[in-house]
Amino acid sequence: MPSPLSEAARAAYSKAFGLEPTVLAQAPGRVELLGNHTDYNGGLVLATAIDRGTVIAGRSIPEREGQVRSTGFPDPDRFDLEALETDAPGAWGRYVRGVVWTLREAHGPFQGGFQAAIAGDVPLGAGLSSSASLQAALALFLLQAGVTGQTADLDDPARMALAKRLQRGENEFVGVQSGLLDQFSVLFGRAGMALSLDCRSLEYERLSLGSPPPAIVICDSKTSRRLADGMYNQRRAECERVVAFFQAKRGPEAVTWLRDVTLEELQDAWSRLDTVGRIRARHVLSENERVRQGVEALRAGDSARLGHLMSDSHASSRDDFANSSSYLETLIESAEEAPGYLGGKLSGAGWAGCTVNLVEATKADDFAAAVRHHYTRRTAIVPDVHICHAAAGASGL
Ligand code: GLA
Repeated sequence: MPSPLSEAARAAYSKAFGLEPTVLAQAPGRVELLGNHTDYNGGLVLATAIDRGTVIAGRSIPEREGQVRSTGFPDPDRFDLEALETDAPGAWGRYVRGVVWTLREAHGPFQGGFQAAIAGDVPLGAGLSSSASLQAALALFLLQAGVTGQTADLDDPARMALAKRLQRGENEFVGVQSGLLDQFSVLFGRAGMALSLDCRSLEYERLSLGSPPPAIVICDSKTSRRLADGMYNQRRAECERVVAFFQAKRGPEAVTWLRDVTLEELQDAWSRLDTVGRIRARHVLSENERVRQGVEALRAGDSARLGHLMSDSHASSRDDFANSSSYLETLIESAEEAPGYLGGKLSGAGWAGCTVNLVEATKADDFAAAVRHHYTRRTAIVPDVHICHAAAGASGL
């Protein structure tokens, strides 16, 4: 059955270009259940794709051009595929070019160009990976439309290769030094399943969230993290300083990632480490352990335990990684007072955006109403509350 989002993309395409689209592709957003800022440290993550996403509708064209409309932004975008500008106005235009860039790097010149309309319902800049959702939907669209000259049938190894390429596009073309969590999650999602990933070995597993699963309730503080983008790269640099310290101690071949250091080693070297780097590292290394325990909790069907681990993760992000905010704290406090709460944390980069909460399924509506009430009373901002389900990864439609 066509979803409202695919109908919106289809209608936007027809309105802008006067034709029916011939290709549609979708990708979900994602939420990080555990493993905050562990991915670029070679660590462990636990995430799920969510039933909010991006749909792209359009056609291939003979001209070597990209012609793109988004239902979320007024201005059309048009660019030469042979001369991709890295400074395109607007983040979504940069992400679109970044996908073209990375597919061309991988597969060589395109056979032609494309016209496309984008519709999405992942809140932007809220920590739910609207950008990876756009990247994966566009990549699937371009593969399906035949403009890359590659097959669009993606098995898991091909999905992993694509996830890595899209991450490279975000790192090198868009200039955000993110890890693999987002692209992996939006490509590997499955209904009812959480996803665990070891970002060093790239081993992954799909794990049932339970039957019935607890509700995944995402609360949007309605504060945006755009101003904090520099903070992400700064945190990454702080972690890399600790890696450099241990490389000097143990040799560069022994330590590639922060993951290669143990919590015991960190404690032993504590007084010789810089005061900022060591607490950032403590967060990352203890977070890896929480992911391990979270995977065990899922295997045991223990949602209450998973919820506790999420709350512990939030405390560690707040106190050691310093990526919470007063709004996110108020949102967590509001959740703690709401019925059915099993645990919750900030999601994604942090500093603003959303919290993710695990809630007893039968109490999700009451939980949502209570969080809305408490947060609005305290901040005069009405939060958006999304009761989400684990969803399938990117695909053609
Ligand atoms: C952002 C990045 C991810 C990850 C998270 C924090 O969402 O894009 O790669 O680092 O922050 O866990």
